[in-house]
Amino acid sequence: MKHLLNKVAIVTGGTRGIGRAVSLALAECGASVIALYARSRKNAEELEKEAEAKGLKIRTIRGDLAHDNSYNEIIMQLQETCDHVDVLVHSAASGVHRKAMELSDRQLKWTFEINFFAIHRLTRDLFGKMGKGGSIIGITSPGGTRVIPNYAAVGSTKGAMDALFRHYAYEFAPLGIAVNLVCPGLVMTDAAKALPELDRMLNITLDYTPTGKLTTPENVAAVVIFLTTEAGSQIAGQTIVVDGGKTLLA
Ligand SMILES: NC(=O)c1ccc[n+]([C@@H]2O[C@H](COP(=O)([O-])OP(=O)(O)OC[C@H]3O[C@@H](n4cnc5c(N)ncnc54)[C@H](OP(=O)(O)O)[C@@H]3O)[C@@H](O)[C@H]2O)c1
Repeated sequence: MKHLLNKVAIVTGGTRGIGRAVSLALAECGASVIALYARSRKNAEELEKEAEAKGLKIRTIRGDLAHDNSYNEIIMQLQETCDHVDVLVHSAASGVHRKAMELSDRQLKWTFEINFFAIHRLTRDLFGKMGKGGSIIGITSPGGTRVIPNYAAVGSTKGAMDALFRHYAYEFAPLGIAVNLVCPGLVMTDAAKALPELDRMLNITLDYTPTGKLTTPENVAAVVIFLTTEAGSQIAGQTIVVDGGKTLLA
């Protein structure tokens, strides 16, 4: 299915974990993909190499979306390179894993800088390049609406992101731009491996997931792709949960 030929897609956190799978899937649908990342040049080079070998169009841009100077450089490059933006996927996230009472103001602010303010800044700055048929997709987390141990900071940012996206969806739908969220269950990426109590979470997830399988980055990417199709154009402001049914259980 090459429904994204001649379309430009930007994926934040697009060189690692879920974002990497999304970048590849969008490119496989014909899009010219720009994958943004913060630090790991090695991951970026590997992705570009893999894309080239498969005849896909993916280029990467390095920079910290939460840092003013770095952000300005990224947005300048994007403004110069892209005449139009058709798909914008916000996958980048970071944050401090602590209990709520152990969080300092600085840690909470830093987590909000990348997981919330950077999302809004990038959306606002690219909005003028988007139009009818466009799609904005955020990768949220069950921690935005439920408790995950030691996830107070990131969970709060995801809850705020969910609310922001509902407003985007309402405001952008009349312009033909679809805004939605995809909410994966536990996916074994580098970020997940850094979670405190990972083994316990893994056991609980597998015990309580009716499909009996963990969600993969490719499962998430497939839903992102669906949302960029004509079929997805009538879906507005929804959160599509991709967790094998785990949230069905109390
Ligand atoms: N994994 C899960 O179980 C799970 C579950 C639910 C939701 N999610 C959500 O899914 C999304 C992707 O998560 P993941 O597990 O794939 O994470 P990941 O493997 O850690 O990838 C995170 C990506 O974000 C980039 N990034 C981090 N801080 C950044 C910054 N300040 N500026 C620019 N880029 C930055 C990283 O760049 P570098 O590679 O250069 O560091 C990396 O490409 C996140 O929004 C996460 O909250 C994940």
